[in-house]
Amino acid sequence: MTTALSESATNSLIIDNAHLIGGEWVPAVSGETIEVINPATREVLARVPRGTAADVDNAVRAAEAAFPAWRDTNATARGILVAKWADLIQRHEAELDKLESQEVGRPHWGPSPIPRMLHFIAGQADKVLGHTMPTMSPDVIGLTLREPYGVVGSIIPWNAPGPMFANDVAAAIAAGNTIVIKPAEDAPLTPLALAKLAMEAGIPAGVVNVVTGYGNEAGAAIPAHPGVRRMSFTGSPQTGELIMAACARNLTPLHLELGGKSPQVIFADADLDAAIPAITAGITLNTGQVCAAGSRVVVERSIHAEVVRRLAEEMKKVTVGPWHKPVRMGPLINAKQHDRVLGYIKLGQEEGAELVTGGGVPRGEEFERGFFVEPTLFDNVGPGMRIAQEEIFGPVLSVIPVDSEEEALAVANGTDYGLVASVWTPDVGRAVRMSRGLQAGQVHVNAALGAGVIGAPFGGYKRSGFGRTMSADAVLNFTHVKAVSLRGTR
Ligand code: NAI
Ligand code: MG
Repeated sequence: MTTALSESATNSLIIDNAHLIGGEWVPAVSGETIEVINPATREVLARVPRGTAADVDNAVRAAEAAFPAWRDTNATARGILVAKWADLIQRHEAELDKLESQEVGRPHWGPSPIPRMLHFIAGQADKVLGHTMPTMSPDVIGLTLREPYGVVGSIIPWNAPGPMFANDVAAAIAAGNTIVIKPAEDAPLTPLALAKLAMEAGIPAGVVNVVTGYGNEAGAAIPAHPGVRRMSFTGSPQTGELIMAACARNLTPLHLELGGKSPQVIFADADLDAAIPAITAGITLNTGQVCAAGSRVVVERSIHAEVVRRLAEEMKKVTVGPWHKPVRMGPLINAKQHDRVLGYIKLGQEEGAELVTGGGVPRGEEFERGFFVEPTLFDNVGPGMRIAQEEIFGPVLSVIPVDSEEEALAVANGTDYGLVASVWTPDVGRAVRMSRGLQAGQVHVNAALGAGVIGAPFGGYKRSGFGRTMSADAVLNFTHVKAVSLRGTR
C-alpha cells in the first residue's frame, strides 16, 4: 500500500524563486520570497516569489494578451495540447509524486489521478456544443455559441495542489480561456512544476500564468482585478466569503469549492467488513486534510458498540511518520493547522465526547520537528457539538449514535455543510430514500470516498459552496452563452 521513497530534499522539478507570467519565469516585483518547508521535518525545500497585486496585474495583462489567439485556436488543437500535457505529467509521475509528498507531507497514495483527469478534460474541449432554436419565420436561424470568458482567476489550497491545479487550469483553458492561478503558500511547488510541463507540452505563453504568494496579498488581488472575468476558489468558507464579496464589486461570476463535514451513515444491516476500513482510510488519507473526508459516523444504535470497537482497532493500525517511510499517514501541513486540530481534540473532550483512541501527538524522536497528530476517534458525540459541526481538517472522527433512519437523515443533514455523504446498507429502498434525502453534492452508497465513477460532478450544497467541477460540465462551466439570430436578406 505504501512505498518508501528517498527522503532527500532535492527534486529536479523544483523551480527556485520564480513564478510564471507570460511564459517567463520571474521573481516577485517586490523581490521578496516565501520559504516552502517539508512539514515532516521543517527543512526548507525551496523559496517561491512573494507575489503581490503588482505581479497579479502583470499576469492578468499577459493572460489578456494571450487570450484572442488561444480563443481562436481550434478546440481539437486545444484538447490535443491538454492531452500532451497529461502525457508529460504521466512521464514525470514519480518525481511529481515525490514533490507533492515533500511539500504536503503525505505518503505515496497510489497512481497519480492527474493524467486521467486531464485526458477526460481534453476530450471535452471539442464537445462544447450550442443549440439551434425554432424561429418565428423561416427567414431566420437561431443558435447559441458557447464562448470563453477571457481571463479566469483561480485560487487553490494546499491539500492536493497537483490535482487542484491541473483540474482548474485544464478545464478553463480547454474552453479557450486563459488563466491566472495562485497556489497556496504552503504547497506551490507542484503547481509550478505542472506549469513548467504545460509550457513544455506546447501550451502557448500567457495561457497559463502562476502567481505565488500569500492569500491576503497575491490572492486578494485576483478577484479584485477588473480584468478577471470568471473566478474559481477552493478553500475555507471564511476565505470564500471574502472572494465572493470581491467578485461582487466587479460582478464577476464565480464558483466556490469550500469545506465539508461529510457523514458516513451506517445502518444495522451494513457490510462492516467493507465499511470500517473504507471509513478509516477516508479520515486518515492525507491526514484528514481532504474537503470530502467523512468526518462523522452516524450509526444505528444496535451496532454502535461494535462499530466503535472495530473503528478503534482499525485506526490504531494506521502507521504515522514522515512521508518517505512506509507509513499510511504523514503530518499536518503547518503549525497553524496543528494547533487547530489539537485544539479541536481538546474541545471535544471539554464538550463531553468520549475519546476512544488517539488524541495527541505521537511520541518519538522522528515526530519532534513535524506537525504530527494521532488518528483520533471520539464516541458518543452529540450532533450539536462543535466537533460534530465544524470542519477540523485532520484525522479526527466523531461517532454519533442514532435510533432510526429518520434521525440518521436529520443528523447527517444537520450541519452547515453539504459536500459528500455516504450510506452503508444493502437495502435498496433505504439507499434510494437516503440518496434523495441527503443534502450533498455527491452521495456514495457502500463506498467512502467514491466508488470510482469517471466524470462524476463534484461540488457542494449549503456552505460547501456552489458550482460543479470534474464532470462533462466542467469545461462548459468556463463558458458563457451567446444567442445569435441570423436573418437572411433577399
Ligand atoms: P484558506 O481558505 O485561507 O486558503 C486557501 C487558499 O486561499 C490559499 O491559496 C490561500 O493563500 C488563499 N487565501 C487566503 N486568504 C485569502 C484572501 N484573503 N484572499 C484571497 N485568497 C486568500 O484556508 P487555510 O487557512 O489554509 O485553512 C483553513 C481551513 O480551511 C482548514 O482547516 C480547512 O477547514 C479549510 N480548507 C478547506 C479546503 C478544501 O479543500 N475545501 C482546503 C484548505 C482549507
Ligand atoms: Mg487562511
